[in-house]
Amino acid sequence: MKGLLALTGAAISAAALAVAAVPAGAQPAGGVGSGPSIAKEPFGALADGTKVDRYTLTSGKGVRVRILTYGGIVQTLEAPDARGRTANVVLGFATLKDYVDKNGGPYFGAIIGRYANRIAKGRFTLDGKTYQLAINNDPNSLHGGLKGFNTKVWKAQPVSGGGSVGLRLDYTSPDGEENYPGTLKTTVTYTLTKGNELRVAYHATTDKATVVNLTNHSYFNLAGEGTGGIYDHLLQLNASRFTPVDSTLIPTGQLAPVKGTPFDFTRPHAIGERIRVGDQQLLYGQGYDHNFVLDQRRPGEPTQAARVTDPRSGRVLNITTTEPGIQFYSGNFLDGTLVGTSGRVYRQGDGFALETQHFPDSPNQPNFPSTVLRPGQAFDSATTYSFSAR
Ligand code: GLA
Repeated sequence: MKGLLALTGAAISAAALAVAAVPAGAQPAGGVGSGPSIAKEPFGALADGTKVDRYTLTSGKGVRVRILTYGGIVQTLEAPDARGRTANVVLGFATLKDYVDKNGGPYFGAIIGRYANRIAKGRFTLDGKTYQLAINNDPNSLHGGLKGFNTKVWKAQPVSGGGSVGLRLDYTSPDGEENYPGTLKTTVTYTLTKGNELRVAYHATTDKATVVNLTNHSYFNLAGEGTGGIYDHLLQLNASRFTPVDSTLIPTGQLAPVKGTPFDFTRPHAIGERIRVGDQQLLYGQGYDHNFVLDQRRPGEPTQAARVTDPRSGRVLNITTTEPGIQFYSGNFLDGTLVGTSGRVYRQGDGFALETQHFPDSPNQPNFPSTVLRPGQAFDSATTYSFSAR
């Protein structure tokens, strides 16, 4: 670790990647046995010449994560099963070109901002002024508009210490970008611990009153990306209420109890167990595409959010967050038109997303926790994804 501490972002090169890499055949992909490490390599350039890098974070305990400076995208995440066999458990693409050309619909692995999820009719009023955002999910605005944070090239800087390794990403969104008010200075820090936890910390400040909702849009398949459906995965959500939606997936404003509905995941259920129930909410989403209200002990305190188990591989994903909500999306719009990282086609239900967040359309919902950020305040949130196996 000491040697790595001395390296700056610029100093870590493809050569460092080679040094950090596990000797071929000696150890499984995650580099079990070595300490946490980070390495950088070029990942191509955008049409305007802007260079994109890829960082590889290794826990030394079997987990390896690849993060792109483009969109802050988690491109791959290898995690071991109980016998130490690793698989890439997130959906994604193999090339930068695919991310640029094809990730506008699915948002695989990306940082989402300025406003994750939907704002009704792309409109909100703040301090008496009305803002009109791009309608990119008719009739609403989705995931930050036409060119959200998922399309930005973030400034990257490796950080480490305390038995973990991390990557700090910075992006300053200019005042008025995508019609949102205020210059929003955003930092997202990914940290991989030797306990195989990936922590994502979000920090933002503004110079004018604005609204903010940040998340990461990774899709998981704990059996391995491209291996088929996730309907047999067992999901448990620490949520006794959810926010029902209208036909355009905008919350009605109600916080409805999940008890007695297909939305009750307070005990583990297979994702597919009730997905074909003739329920109006499931019809609206073509499956699950809903925000769950987490049973937080105290607002802003890290809370158990979700636990997912793949019965076949035994891999377990546990998510904790400081956010009040989590969007559970069962990959309903994957339709067999995208070829993923390993060359396999993604079909409906081949991955699920669990997006920790403030509730959708909060700027228009006075009864939801506020997403307003004012000058002098800081937006801070953290979500931890931990990987284990049984
Ligand atoms: C979120 C939305 C979904 C869908 C996906 C990306 O999860 O809630 O409706 O847009 O992003 O395809």
